[in-house]
Amino acid sequence: MFSLQQLLKFYLTATPVRKIASPYFKNLLEEVLDKERIYYSFSSIERLKNQLLLDASTIEVHDLGAGSRKKAGLYRTIQSIAKTAVSSTAQCAQLFRLVYFLQAKNRLEIGSSLGISSLYQYFPIRNSKMYSLEGCPNIAQIAQSNFDKLAANNLELIVGNFADTLLPTLKKMQSLDYVFIDGNHRLDATLSYFETCLPYCHAQSVMVLDDIHWSKEMQQAWARIRKHPKVALSIDLYHMGWVFFDAKDSPQKQLNILFNPFN
Ligand SMILES: C[S@@+](CC[C@H](N)C(=O)[O-])C[C@H]1O[C@@H](n2cnc3c(N)ncnc32)[C@H](O)[C@@H]1O
Repeated sequence: MFSLQQLLKFYLTATPVRKIASPYFKNLLEEVLDKERIYYSFSSIERLKNQLLLDASTIEVHDLGAGSRKKAGLYRTIQSIAKTAVSSTAQCAQLFRLVYFLQAKNRLEIGSSLGISSLYQYFPIRNSKMYSLEGCPNIAQIAQSNFDKLAANNLELIVGNFADTLLPTLKKMQSLDYVFIDGNHRLDATLSYFETCLPYCHAQSVMVLDDIHWSKEMQQAWARIRKHPKVALSIDLYHMGWVFFDAKDSPQKQLNILFNPFN
């Protein structure tokens, strides 16, 4: 829900990165939002994405979540999924740089789609295992083939409803350094994924939630998560939100960050 009124309200409460009081979070944001920081794996992942954007073949989609506003029916072309469900290149690059900055080893993605964002979060630390969960078997098959094409051997795709796959995966992982919640954008589901992941987090873990202003329910979920007693600091970038359990040197508990989203 990118209404002008909301964007205006957000920008009026937002802080420019250069004015952030905490040196740690100022440095983190400068590095993660710096579009000049391009890594060599970006080009091979983007080549894969471009192939998907040209792929007019159709697959049957089983959407177990709140879905996309632009979806049309049960059968969709690969290119339409690549256009509407996959995060933008700028956002994926930010996820890469965040994982790299944090050196987050035990990583989990809830919602792989075609596997593009998964690869962006996998490659910064490809020697350590990452898991990604996807519910639609036909979409998962394409994600797996993308992982194979880039020899992402430590990136494991788990297919099934999050309701069945999330907890067993967390039990297997034992501890979470980083999780990207990007599927089933409903209030109850988002809160439940947050709560399910929480016992596996530690002080240095980071949770990322996508599309926090996409709908009223997502805004409510984000507002509740920001106020959770275990959350030490939350950063709202409008298109996504980051949750920290250690505020480090930050005097603020909540930050809304002003930057050019088209960068
Ligand atoms: C927004 S897409 C993920 C996009 C991907 N992270 C990216 O940035 O490119 C959400 C994915 O979650 C899957 N999904 C939604 N609800 C689900 C559920 N309850 N269980 C399993 N998968 C689900 C959908 O099939 C879809 O592929």
